[in-house]
Amino acid sequence: MTNERGTTMIPLVRRAAVVLATSAALLSGSLVTGAAQAAQPPAAEPGAAAATLRDAAEEQGRFVGTAVADGRLGNGTYTGIASREFSSVTAENVMKWDAIEPSRGSFNFAPGDRLVDFAQAGGQQVWGHTLVWHSQLPGWVANGGFNQTQLTQVMNNHITTVMDHYEGDVAYWDVVNEAFNEDGTLRSSVFSDTLGSGFIGTAFRTARAADPDAKLCINDYNTEGVGAKSNGLYNLVSSLLSQGVPIDCVGFQSHFILDQIPSTFQTNLQRFADLGLEVVITELDIRMNLPADSAKLQRQAAQFASVTRTCLAVSACRGITVWGFSDADSWVPGVFDGQGAACLYDQNYQAKPAFGAMLTALGGEPGGGDPGDPDPPAGPCQVTWRVTSRWNAGSVVEVGIRTTAAVNGWSATFALPSGHRVTSGWNAVFSQSGATVTAANAPYNGNVGAGGTIGFGFQTDNGGQYTPPTVSLNGTACTAA
Ligand code: XIL
Repeated sequence: MTNERGTTMIPLVRRAAVVLATSAALLSGSLVTGAAQAAQPPAAEPGAAAATLRDAAEEQGRFVGTAVADGRLGNGTYTGIASREFSSVTAENVMKWDAIEPSRGSFNFAPGDRLVDFAQAGGQQVWGHTLVWHSQLPGWVANGGFNQTQLTQVMNNHITTVMDHYEGDVAYWDVVNEAFNEDGTLRSSVFSDTLGSGFIGTAFRTARAADPDAKLCINDYNTEGVGAKSNGLYNLVSSLLSQGVPIDCVGFQSHFILDQIPSTFQTNLQRFADLGLEVVITELDIRMNLPADSAKLQRQAAQFASVTRTCLAVSACRGITVWGFSDADSWVPGVFDGQGAACLYDQNYQAKPAFGAMLTALGGEPGGGDPGDPDPPAGPCQVTWRVTSRWNAGSVVEVGIRTTAAVNGWSATFALPSGHRVTSGWNAVFSQSGATVTAANAPYNGNVGAGGTIGFGFQTDNGGQYTPPTVSLNGTACTAA
């Protein structure tokens, strides 16, 4: 089976698996067909924490993507990071209407094809952006004076031709982008003005017919929290679904302002997920007033981590795409006066604190970046877990927890395998409820300075193997040291 590009098509199941498959499978060539395979990032060593965003996300069963600027594909620093860290790519501009069908019936696929080739060489998923949008729309559509029948034909032809061309190469499409006003009503555009609100259903039905295997998304901004705009989107999506319109996912652009991540983000993602849809964070960046300083960059890091955890907390949240990974390429300064520094990497492609924080939030461990990169900040605590002796009816375990910040009183919790009991211990006061063991400070060791280590040990009644469990310090999970 080949598509219009002449690429061998990957059936949906295999294409979707590309993202979740181990890099080993990708390297074996068992999953990627089509374009020649180039160097792919090595998988994390078995048992080691993932050192790249893409490996860490893969271990969570999610993808992590970036928008890619066509003009940067010749820059080795840029492409190196894009391939190493991301398992999905979105065309920042080259698949938009003005770029891909600049005049009626005349399609310019070369830049989009370049992106697909780049992605396939690196074993990455391609996210198609975007088919029907009021912006970056060529004058011949926006001001063409088409009547309802004509515009329907123009829109359907655009969707069909572009999707046919990329059939099998693009896993998800933003079919409709930014259709709403801030108050939740439908935005006025040539599409809604000429075709009424029905243009959205028409676009999705046409898209499904063009590529039945692509996942079809509606994408918007300022819809991340519960509010008038997301309510409008929710009501429309619910009603489209009840009419049998083929819609698979909702994209939340997530162009955030520092310190203004909506507190209802997770609740909102979950209500869309509860409609049976995938939800995806499609264009994440977190901008700040310039100049950046280290306090703002630290807060930004914490907020990238919190957005990441929000996605991980919603099982239908399949991935997170950042809208450019470097401040050198971000759209923000050109659009929001005096603001910027919104990305994971700085102007010189050096990882910012946000990079380490996002990696850690994905369960990875900073350290696998470019040699010479500044060390990303450590998480709140790092734990060592050692079984120092074991016999048929007992084990001795020693635990060390390094705390990044000073603590004044501590309590460490972890789970033992079912049925195992702590029988005695030292340097902590132990209690156990079911599998969960709590080790609280003894009267003499509650105060530990920043960077200090808490040490305690215990004996159990079972000589079975222990996989080191997650240990939390004062309620926060520690990373493995
Ligand atoms: C932006 C690009 O990043 C810029 O290069 C371009 O000049 C304008 O569009 N929402 C979207 C994206 O859906 O397509 C926009 O991308 C950012 C906002």
